[in-house]
Amino acid sequence: MEIATMEKTTELEAAVMDQIKDRRSSRSYLSKPLEAEKIKSLFEAARWAPSAMNDQPWTYVFATKGEGELWVKLYSMLNDGNRLWAGNAPLLILSMARNTYRNYGTPNPTALYDLGAANAFLSLQATELGLNAHQMGGYNREKTRELLNIPDTYDLGVIIAVGYPGGPELLPEALRVRELSPRYRFSQKEFVHSKAFEK
Ligand SMILES: Cc1cc2nc3c(=O)[nH]c(=O)nc-3n(C[C@H](O)[C@H](O)[C@H](O)COP(=O)(O)O)c2cc1C
Repeated sequence: MEIATMEKTTELEAAVMDQIKDRRSSRSYLSKPLEAEKIKSLFEAARWAPSAMNDQPWTYVFATKGEGELWVKLYSMLNDGNRLWAGNAPLLILSMARNTYRNYGTPNPTALYDLGAANAFLSLQATELGLNAHQMGGYNREKTRELLNIPDTYDLGVIIAVGYPGGPELLPEALRVRELSPRYRFSQKEFVHSKAFEK
């Protein structure tokens, strides 16, 4: 089926927990710094994510704005569109996954899958803490690897901008329009099936 013809809605089709309902990838941040215990809480949520063989391949490098060069380095890796707004986020997190199993040294084919789960936990914990976590795939991976001396044994995930949500009024016009537009999701019937694919 053509994606354009697939049904999307802005409404919940069933009850979900508040953190899922309230989470969103906002582009507006207050300049208010983040408390150290809140940062720790984000990584604690990631820590308790499930992973293949309980290998826990997720790895994070974080930097807070105004405290050293690392935040600036991470910020400078973002693409132009992301730099428009992510510079207001007091916390930037680079997420990575070790791509070989700790115990065997053999390739871990689900390392990035596990990292995605950990990042989802982190994002929901951010919502619980009243924070906005916005994941970004739009950054220069090669340069990031080079600048941060990241070995090949790590696959790069997203950079996550975290901070207290500002509000649409803090954003420039184009981003404000985007921020205020409805959030669509495909209907469950488009992606949940109870039969095999047709031949
Ligand atoms: C892997 C991944 C990469 C993303 N990359 C970007 C990005 O580079 N820039 C951006 O503004 N948003 C990015 N997003 C955010 C998505 O655009 C956002 O999650 C999606 O539009 C749904 O909106 P919501 O998170 O508010 O529900 C990314 C999200 C994910 C999960």
